[in-house]
Amino acid sequence: MSANRPAAVVVLAAGEGTRMKSKTPKVLHEVCGRSLVGHVVSAARELDPEHLVVVVGHAADQVGAHLTDRYAGTRTAFQAEQNGTGHAVRIALEELGQSVSGTVVVVCGDTPLLSGATLTALAATHAADGNAVTVLTAEVPDATGYGRIVRDAATGAVTAIVEHKDATAEQRTVREINSGVFAFDGQLLADALGKVRTDNSQGEEYLTDVLGILREAGHRVGASVADDHREILGINNRVQLAEARRLLNQRLLEQAMLAGVTVVDPSSVLVDVTVSFEPDAVVHPGTQLLGVTHLGEGSEVGPNTRLRDTSVGAGARVDNTVADRAEIGPEASVGPFAYLRPGTRLGTKSKAGTYVEMKNATIGEGTKVPHLSYVGDATIGDYTNIGAASVFVNYDGEAKHHTTIGSHCKTGSDNMFVAPVTVGDGAYTAAGSVITKDVPAGSLAVARGQQRNIEGWVARKRPGSAAAQAAAAAVEKPSGDL
Ligand code: UD1
Ligand code: CA
Repeated sequence: MSANRPAAVVVLAAGEGTRMKSKTPKVLHEVCGRSLVGHVVSAARELDPEHLVVVVGHAADQVGAHLTDRYAGTRTAFQAEQNGTGHAVRIALEELGQSVSGTVVVVCGDTPLLSGATLTALAATHAADGNAVTVLTAEVPDATGYGRIVRDAATGAVTAIVEHKDATAEQRTVREINSGVFAFDGQLLADALGKVRTDNSQGEEYLTDVLGILREAGHRVGASVADDHREILGINNRVQLAEARRLLNQRLLEQAMLAGVTVVDPSSVLVDVTVSFEPDAVVHPGTQLLGVTHLGEGSEVGPNTRLRDTSVGAGARVDNTVADRAEIGPEASVGPFAYLRPGTRLGTKSKAGTYVEMKNATIGEGTKVPHLSYVGDATIGDYTNIGAASVFVNYDGEAKHHTTIGSHCKTGSDNMFVAPVTVGDGAYTAAGSVITKDVPAGSLAVARGQQRNIEGWVARKRPGSAAAQAAAAAVEKPSGDL
């Protein structure tokens, strides 16, 4: 690809995107975990251009900050008034110092499905054919709103692009459209932009007019037809945003499946571009894999699970779970109905079972928290079992405190560990204990009220009740039947 390394890629992202009806600038809307402009910048980077310039205008500060934050190395050019795509490219070239020799690729900031491979192929065609400009076109089922590609009837050569609003009825029947993606000779582009006029229905400087200008000056104008028209889908409203999400999601899941991942029902699984998989991972229906999430070899996730920035170790099982910034170790078992919050680290073969919530907790190898518990701000060693319905009482109303439990401990059901507190290796605690003091290694801690039985209480206080009758019958039976 570096053989056709462009001098610059210009991304057009100054428009407001009124049809989104949003406070968020259009190009910052997200598809599969990445902004629209982020997708375009990522594809553009695959060309390895010397310069990458994004033209910003509407909400320039917000879009600029997003780019600086996530896409270091991109430059921005400010277009104060959106006077058209030609005007926008002119401003980008000014930012680059006007005389750009070599290829300049122009893309719109609202086409998130455009792949680096398609851009690379366009740059290659442009170079191989020695064109002054090569436009990426596509045959679409409905060309409404797009610029139409006008070809010479005899030779088939592209003669011009006519915007929908400026097209004749006959031109509007053309289904080959301008994708908005071009490769230009930098210097010819700069010269031609100086000649673009604004005598069109929108009173704007159209970048598309450059084609006709270059052709009339005797330069080679070429076109490259995209294999899949869906790749150039431009997002103007939220229906198209959802459609782009669906198509990209499908593309990502197909890549995963071809790499050896089982996706039981792709239509019910949502995945971000930053998710990665090892072979033989299985994804069950109703699962969302978001952010930098990784599924290890042979792991099984879902159904009905949402993982964000979470890694799942090889062979782990995660069922009906919500996890955010958690690390799930190899062969660990999570859920059904678990909630793993940031900072949860589950060791190899450990367990966070049913109705278990964890936060900022490190759980050792083989350690189990099987039922109905909250484990917050804790470190638990290896091969320990935490009884059902235990709570790590980490918050005193002012600050959070830490609980440490050793290895090979057996803590009883319905324990409260009032932090800060430490339970030593091999210790036991009795069911129903409120553990407020450290428990030495190997001890049994009992911290609960003594049981007292008041005999005959039901007969005295609830005479004649069903309970009293049952008790009386039980007393008459020989004790062996109890
Ligand atoms: C444009 C093309 C059309 C093509 C379509 C593909 C022109 C004149 N028309 O039309 O041929 O079929 O894209 O989707 O080029 N922008 C700026 N500054 C401006 C104007 C636009 O940065 O002054 C940016 C927008 O933010 C957007 C892109 O350029 O990312 C395209 O602008 P838009 O208004 O969406 O153009 P279309 O009418 O869709
Ligand atoms: Ca558009």
